[in-house]
Amino acid sequence: MLSRQLGTKLLAYDTPFYLYDTALLRQTLESVVYESQRYDYKVHYAIKANYDKRLLSIIREYGLGIDCASGNELRTAIEAGFDPKGIVYAGVGKRDKELRYAIECGILAINCESIEELEVVDALAAEAGRKVDVALRINPDIDPKTNHCIDTGQADSKFGISYEEVLENADRIKGLGNLNITGLHLHIGSQIRELHVFENMCNKVNVIVRNLDSLGFGIRFVDVGGGLGINYDMPENEPIPNFASLFSIVHNHLDVGGREVHFEFGRSIVGQCGELITKVLFNKTTATGRRLLIVDASMTELIRPALYGAYHNIENITSEEEATKKYTVVGTACESTDVFDENVGLRISARGDLLTVKSAGAYGMSMASRYNLHDLPGAVYGDEIAK
Ligand SMILES: Cc1ncc(COP(=O)(O)O)c(C=O)c1O
Repeated sequence: MLSRQLGTKLLAYDTPFYLYDTALLRQTLESVVYESQRYDYKVHYAIKANYDKRLLSIIREYGLGIDCASGNELRTAIEAGFDPKGIVYAGVGKRDKELRYAIECGILAINCESIEELEVVDALAAEAGRKVDVALRINPDIDPKTNHCIDTGQADSKFGISYEEVLENADRIKGLGNLNITGLHLHIGSQIRELHVFENMCNKVNVIVRNLDSLGFGIRFVDVGGGLGINYDMPENEPIPNFASLFSIVHNHLDVGGREVHFEFGRSIVGQCGELITKVLFNKTTATGRRLLIVDASMTELIRPALYGAYHNIENITSEEEATKKYTVVGTACESTDVFDENVGLRISARGDLLTVKSAGAYGMSMASRYNLHDLPGAVYGDEIAK
């Protein structure tokens, strides 16, 4: 963990801030590129996980494409130098101006999530005088065995078009003359640690592709989304996620002929390279005896614990005490759910100590808000700090 190595050196920076281990990011990218090339898989980075410009410039060096979820994410990717032909754009509710922009950019595919959206894209393509490449985002109805707040591929989910609806409307979809239906897309959820779930996904995709083939769709690529989980409990034990296992499962179970296979990883690329560094403001004990450690970060810098009950490992990186105590670590926001974790064993912690909230590189800064008019957190990069 970079913050452990740097320790008191980090006291020089204004807290709270995100600390990014750029060397770990590079190692992670080397791993995903090496493992994906063994099967000629294409990898996109899900920019929603973190759109920090420095991180994007490093990710671009490794030749990844981009998966985006809004017009502004698309614009940010293009401004960061990513090739539009390597960008896919998913999202249940794309606004007309966002769709027009995506059409104008000529991206790899707009991943459409309803029949109505396909019709709107067809009409906007006609208006632009272009034929537009789209992928059908199909809801495969798979339980990804993850936190229900971040599953996206079950039948009742708002994401994707139901498979049955695609089959029933096949002729109507194929009749949309301004669209090239080039891809099939799905994304079953995030933070998936039980990798056998991907086996179920492949079996479903095989059936879907066979049926789309028999209905005369000319699908050229299959994009199976992201979702590979990271080790939040003990990040030091697994700083780089197991891309090799996931690719091997997909290789052994996906049967889609010579079609390109794409992935869209967010958390697994940037999750472990980021830590939120925060300073202890106060110690206090509630009337019920709960020992609170009040820190200068809050849900406005990292909302995952408050939003999903997500767990992040926390450590005091500057205390010189040997003994530990249990604390409930809370933030500064005016919300009772603004709790980073309860009953955390930390070295005895005092005002001015620095804590790290680990594995915060994904869905941390990109979900930050200015609630309570907090300033947005800064960023410090490992390769800019003299060791
Ligand atoms: C369509 C789509 N693709 C990819 C991702 C990235 O997922 P992960 O960060 O779990 O890899 C997401 C995350 O929400 C998504 O919605």
